Amino acid sequence: MPLFYQHNINENTRLGIWQIEEDESFFLKKVPLKKNVSHPHKRLQHLAGRFLLPELFNDFPIEEIIIADTKKPFLENEKYHFSISHCGDFAAAIVSGKSRVGVDVEMVTPKIGRISHKFLAPHEHEFLERVSLPEDLIKMQTLFWSAKESIFKWYSLGEVDFREYIQLRENVPSTQDTELILPFVFKKSSPIHLMVHAKIFGELILTWVV
Ligand SMILES: CC(C)(COP(=O)(O)OP(=O)(O)OC[C@H]1O[C@@H](n2cnc3c(N)ncnc32)[C@H](O)[C@@H]1OP(=O)(O)O)[C@@H](O)C(=O)NCCC(=O)NCCS
Repeated sequence: MPLFYQHNINENTRLGIWQIEEDESFFLKKVPLKKNVSHPHKRLQHLAGRFLLPELFNDFPIEEIIIADTKKPFLENEKYHFSISHCGDFAAAIVSGKSRVGVDVEMVTPKIGRISHKFLAPHEHEFLERVSLPEDLIKMQTLFWSAKESIFKWYSLGEVDFREYIQLRENVPSTQDTELILPFVFKKSSPIHLMVHAKIFGELILTWVV
């Protein structure tokens, strides 16, 4: 199947989600497999993420991607900044000709509740418990995890304590909207204010930072 979702954020920045229904041979026609990924489904996700980049900007040079020590993929000449995420049968990518970006996709699963104390600051925990309907708490925790993963990828240098360094800046109204903008602060060095955008497709959560 082609694109599941595509959004032109601005003239320099595009975002997409691919729903993976093809087998490896489809992606290998366009994507050079440079990394040894032994698990077949992970290899498929990896290929689909790379495949999506030139779907967004057709001059994206996927063959020039290199991997930093932090595991972040990048282009040496920085013609494009980009970020990739995959989950289940979905691969997401964001590409910008101008600025750093981060993207994340997650499926909502109850597992998140067991680790939420590791990535939520106390005020975030309290906020989510207060505003979420009981059946929505897991979704909101997943949303916050995804938002922080997007910021982690946007930052790209690794070594980030999610609880300490990435925090919701101000409470946002409770909403049932499927599109949200969440104000976060990234405090690893001088505080940087970031708006995390989110889109919820049922049990699939997409977040991104530009
Ligand atoms: C690197 C990390 C972000 C990947 O997330 P994930 O949920 O395993 O997988 P995703 O599918 O969302 O993302 C994988 C993609 O992220 C990209 N990526 C990997 N390392 C990255 C980094 N350091 N910076 C930016 N992007 C990175 C890659 O493109 C990778 O896909 P690819 O190998 O196919 O190219 C994650 O493993 C991680 O380390 N998160 C931080 C965890 C943490 O520190 N938590 C502390 C609080 S509990």
